[in-house]
Order: sequence, then C-alpha cells, then structure tokens
Amino acid sequence: MANEDKFKKVISHAKEYGYIFASSEIYDGLSAVYDYAQNGVELKKNIREYWWRSMVYMHQNIVGLDSAILMHPKTWEASGHVDAFSDPLIDNKDSKKRYRADVLIEDYCEKINKKAQKEIDKAKKRFGESFNEEEFVTTNGRVIGYKNKQKEILERMAKSLDNEDLADVKALIEELGIADPDTGSKNWTDVRQFNLMFGTKLGASAESAMDLYLRPETAQGIFVNFSNVQKTGRMKIPFGIAQTGKAFRNEIVARQFIFRMREFEQMEMQFFVRPGEEMKWYEYWKETRLNWHKSLGLGEENYRFHDHEKLAHYANAATDIEFNFPFGFKELEGIHSRTDFDLKAHEEHSGKKLQFFDPELNKNYVPYVVETSIGLDRMFLAVFSNSLQEETLEDGSSRVVLKLPSILAPTKAAIFPLVKKDGLPDIAKKIIEDLKWDYNVIYDEKDAVGKRYRRQDANGTPFCITVDHQSKEDDTVTIRYRDTMTQERIAISEIGNKIKESISYQSWLG
Ligand code: GAP
Repeated sequence: MANEDKFKKVISHAKEYGYIFASSEIYDGLSAVYDYAQNGVELKKNIREYWWRSMVYMHQNIVGLDSAILMHPKTWEASGHVDAFSDPLIDNKDSKKRYRADVLIEDYCEKINKKAQKEIDKAKKRFGESFNEEEFVTTNGRVIGYKNKQKEILERMAKSLDNEDLADVKALIEELGIADPDTGSKNWTDVRQFNLMFGTKLGASAESAMDLYLRPETAQGIFVNFSNVQKTGRMKIPFGIAQTGKAFRNEIVARQFIFRMREFEQMEMQFFVRPGEEMKWYEYWKETRLNWHKSLGLGEENYRFHDHEKLAHYANAATDIEFNFPFGFKELEGIHSRTDFDLKAHEEHSGKKLQFFDPELNKNYVPYVVETSIGLDRMFLAVFSNSLQEETLEDGSSRVVLKLPSILAPTKAAIFPLVKKDGLPDIAKKIIEDLKWDYNVIYDEKDAVGKRYRRQDANGTPFCITVDHQSKEDDTVTIRYRDTMTQERIAISEIGNKIKESISYQSWLG
C-alpha cells in the first residue's frame, strides 16, 4: 500500500472504529485539535500507563508529579520561552500556504538521505551476504557525496538559525530550489519568527487580569517543584521526576493528523544528576528509552536516532528517537541533556535556591538535567499506524486487522454467545461478570460469529471467546486469537489466566 494511502486509511479507521474524532466536528472541526473516542481513550490510557510504570514503578529513584497547566508567567521568562520559543515560518505567495522554513529544508535533506539509502540497498542486493555496509558508506563516492551535501545544508541552516540570520534561511531555500510541496511554486515570502505559546488571562476584571500562557511543555512544572519533591521525598541525586499532561502550542503547520497538534499530551521525565555526569546519563537514557520502544514489538527497523545539529538554547546534547510513520521517519521522542540551565534560570527569576546538598561531595550545587520527552498522541499514532494491517487470507479473501500489542489493546476480550438462545447469552454474561473486575471486556451477540470476529480484528481485540452448546455440557469455550486466527478449546475457568499471561507487565517490560 502506498504510504499516502496507508495514512488515509489510518485516519479513516481511527474514526470508523471509535478511536479519534475531529474536535467539535459538528461545527466542522477545529484545526489540529482532536478528541479521543471510546476506544481511543482506552488505548491512550494504556500507553500512558505503560510509560508510567516503566518510569516510576521500575525505578526506585523516580517519582511522579501532576503540576498545573497554568503557571506563574515568570516561569516562561525564566525558561526562555517568551523570547525564544518560536519557529521560523515562511509563506508561499501563490498558494498562500504557510510552512516551517526549517522543516522544508529538513525534508529536502531527507530526500538526499533516501538517495543515499537507495545506493546502499542496490549494493546490498549486488553483494549479498558479503556486503559490509559500514565500509560501503565510508568509501562509496556517491554515498559520501550525498551525506556531505546533507551535512553541509543542515550545518548552514543551524548556523543561520543560531545567528537569527533569517535572510540566509530564505536564501538557502531559494538556492536549493525548494518548492511548495503542494503546488510546486517557488514564490516565497521572507522568513519570520513566530512565537508558539497560547496566551490567556487570569482574573475577572480587565484592569487586574494577569497575562498567562498555556504551558507549551510539562517540563517546567517539574523544574519549579524540584526542591519541594527533593525535600519531601528525601530524594538523593541522581533522581528523576516524571509527569504526564497536556501541553499547548500554536503550531504553524499542523497537517498530519495527531502527529502535530495544537493541544497534545506529553510524557516527560527530568533526571537530576551531578554536574559532569550528564553525558553518562544521557547515554543511559538513550538506550533505556529505545529499549522501551522496542519492547512493544513494532519492529526494530522502525526506529533510529537523529542527533541534533542545532541545539536548543538549554541543551549541550540532544537526540530524537525517530519512528517510521506512514509519512516517513519523524521525531517520536526527544532526549536532551539540558545542563543546569532551567534550575539556574528559575533561581535567578524567583530568588529561591534550587540546589542539592551532596553529602558525598560535601557541597551544594545546581544539578544538571537529562530529560526524556515523548508525545503521547505521537506514540498513539506510531502504535496505531504500525498495527493497522490488511491481510490476504489463504482462501483469497482479505481482512483488516489492528494488531495492537495486547498490553495496550482497549478491549482485552470479546465474549460471544454462538446464538442468542438456549441459555448461551447467560453463560457469556456470567463470564463478563467474572472478568470485568480485572479487564476491559465486551459482550457481542449481533451478526454471525465470523462477522463478529472481523469486527473485533478491526477493533484490535486480542481474544474472542465463543460460548456454544458444548459449553453447557463441559464448561469450556472456544478462544480465538486475533493475530493467528487459530482457535482452541479451553475451560471457562482458564480464560482469566490466558488474558493475564498475555498482558503481564513483567513479560512486556521485563
Ligand atoms: N520538554 C522538551 C520538549 O517539549 P519537544 O521536542 O518540543 O521537547 C517533546 O517535544 C515531544 O513532544 C516530541 O518529541 C513530540 O513527541 C511531542 N510533541 C511536540 N510538539 C507536539 C505537537 N505539536 N503535537 C504532538 N506532539 C508534540
């Protein structure tokens, strides 16, 4: 399936099966804002839980926090967001479409990268088993040429953005001949900076109202609570604070469904370390987070690191974990070594000390921070798009199946009576009564069983349990597995164990 078609199918499937709706749809929706429907809210909750457990329950030195969305406005002066949280935007004069100038250039570089990859793939085919990719990449003239060109462009862009030389960013776009991806027009405006924070007001009267911002990241709620948590939790360096919650950004370009939203949710963890030890922890968290992603079985080949050329104002090292979305490899998670920038800035702006007394070193210092930051909605899209598959079956028919990792599936099992009579619905309902305390399970008696199986395949339900006449005789049922479509007969008393085994956190995260 072509990537564009696949992405369209992802969006329509998400709506048809009650995962995601456009916000305020009856008023034609609100750009880049979405609502999570009956299945979506469960999947989202399960992803959040999977992250939370891996961070908070699996690490004795990481604790949770739920700070407010509204924060004192000085927070955003200290963090640098008032001055520097902007994207370089450019408009196309013919199409009137608005783009992020840096994204246009990065997409251009990705095309060069694809050309290099094509050369590598061709050579791989030619040389077969004896192919040494590392050697090829460092010796093949064409590949070296592509890589150098890409590096040169990205370095020039990073330098221009650092120096606020927006005229050079535009010059680069023109020199590379970058056209409007939708219309092909090269008639561009100048590049301008655009602050992404949403403003709002606190207070009733116009005179006394205080200007506030909706938080653009959850991280600052963690920084301003550093001392509170450290003291009340008697935390010792190194330790982390984890938080999930809404963030808001007035994104310039928000056209990729839930990939780039104006209201979204982040799952962030700030890990406080001794100054000078940050690179060790940066490497630790790179590996740990990649392993977390791999644990879900979405395919190891679908992840890659992308180290930043242009570092944010607070970072001394940064990388993205990119995922192979239906529209190509894009950022899924950021891992940043944020130095002591944030805590120091909050000390200066608040006049309060945000330090740690290290008994081993017998001194106070402002800790350094390594941050892991992932968008929950973006993770949802990664899981959902990767799981949606169309299969051709042995008999030539096809089925649409949502092969969600069972630990994340909204509904763990659907219970069917084979027919709506002969006491079978009562047995099915009794099974629901027993399971509902531990698992989200549903009852379905509508349509033929085959149709019900297909419905649950498309819904992502890992198990279907069918109660038939034999169940009345021997207290057994048929369990049918979503991914293999195989069936087996098990005792009713075994159903709970089957589900439990398949969604044990220990087997997924361990
Ligand atoms: N505290 C650091 C921080 O916010 P970021 O790279 O701007 O860093 C972190 O954002 C993650 O949040 C991204 O990797 C992405 O998954 C998610 N994210 C950022 N902007 C988003 C948006 N507009 N819509 C959905 N997710 C977004």
